[in-house]
Amino acid sequence: MSPSVDPLSSDYLADPYPFLANLRGEKPVEHLPAIDMWIVTRYEDARQVFRDNKTFSAANVQAPLLPLCDEAMGILKGRFKLVPVMSNLDQPAHSRIRRKLARAFSARRIKLLTPVIEKRCRGLVETFRHQGRFDIARELCYPLPAITIFTMFGFPDDDMDQIKEWCADKLVVNWGRPTQEHQIRAARTMVLFWEYCVDFVAKRRAAPMDDMTSDLIRDEDETQPLTDQEIASILFGLSFAGHETTTNQMTNFLRNLLENNLWKNLREDRSNMQSFIDESLRYDSSVIAWRRITTTEVTIDGVTLPKGAKIMIAIGAANRDPEHFPQPDHFDPARKNATDHLSFGTGIHLCLGRPLAHIEMAAMANVLLDCFADLQLVADQELHFPPNISFRGPETLMVQSVQDNNTN
Ligand code: HEM
Repeated sequence: MSPSVDPLSSDYLADPYPFLANLRGEKPVEHLPAIDMWIVTRYEDARQVFRDNKTFSAANVQAPLLPLCDEAMGILKGRFKLVPVMSNLDQPAHSRIRRKLARAFSARRIKLLTPVIEKRCRGLVETFRHQGRFDIARELCYPLPAITIFTMFGFPDDDMDQIKEWCADKLVVNWGRPTQEHQIRAARTMVLFWEYCVDFVAKRRAAPMDDMTSDLIRDEDETQPLTDQEIASILFGLSFAGHETTTNQMTNFLRNLLENNLWKNLREDRSNMQSFIDESLRYDSSVIAWRRITTTEVTIDGVTLPKGAKIMIAIGAANRDPEHFPQPDHFDPARKNATDHLSFGTGIHLCLGRPLAHIEMAAMANVLLDCFADLQLVADQELHFPPNISFRGPETLMVQSVQDNNTN
């Protein structure tokens, strides 16, 4: 059955887990002609691919999944000057940038953000809590991580909707199968977004402020300071990494809680918050797959891949490998090894934003648990997932408040 697996088909997008379980059981390393990639589905193999950064280069992780048409390429040519800066950079260049970005992502800056996140979250909840029934994905999970990361960069709040729209185009181009018309439109918006980042860096270079962009600009104490092109590339990449992932994980987390009737359970004992979040990351990761490309011929699980083979690390399959996680299809917040999940990757590219993502998810859940004594999924709703191979979360999630805790 495996040659027929197309990670962009509607059946797979609606529920990839049965497809992934079949592959993992029958052909754990398999070529998928639909996207011309080798899918790796076992936990140990996936972990090995992430950790062996010499054999498995990260150069392709942000590249368009399929070649763009000439017209789209023409639009990008000469104007779109993005350079590899983090997730798609190999050693030794990667370490230089990661060291600097880790400093800008300091514990101080994250700590400063925590009360801002909680306040923004409460403000957002106030706008819809009295409706009784609402789309929690759109009303809360969509704006909150964007506001957070853009506040961190220093981007004005008013630009949020525009940037979110630009990012949606990037998602389809880099991880989906857009039509030619869509590729052309997306190429135009990617140029606009790139120019926005370049202008923003220039503004902060002229007048630095107390934000992450200015921290990156001030980093002149080293022999190789970041160039403005690199800083603009960081903003371009992080604008996406910092919210698309977290928006989806928040929605998945709420869905997991409500489908398993765990709202009251968590409300009564919030000391387990961390375990609930870890299990949601394992069970229902918002990054279901990530990419690599081989630098040499290599054998994985008995299958030999040539140099230049494109790999789809099926994080969603690895996180449900029964050899590592007993009863993997069961959402179990008491699971002892949930933190072994690969949802943030592992090795030198391990997600830099994971502390922030955890803080955002906990803040969101705490505010909702304060406000709603009970919350339930609206019955019989059809969930829709954006057509791409990596980022997974329902676009809408209708919930209803059974009992509003008006005292909070
Ligand atoms: C639940 C939310 C998130 C998930 C599931 C997630 C997942 C990932 C994954 C799978 C990688 C690739 C790891 C690898 O190649 O080994 C990654 C890298 C990265 N993530 Fe996240 N991420 C999340 C949130 C964030 C946030 C909020 C930020 C920033 C604000 C962020 C910034 C980054 C950066 C900078 C990298 C590249 C690190 C490097 O190459 O050294 N992520 N993330």
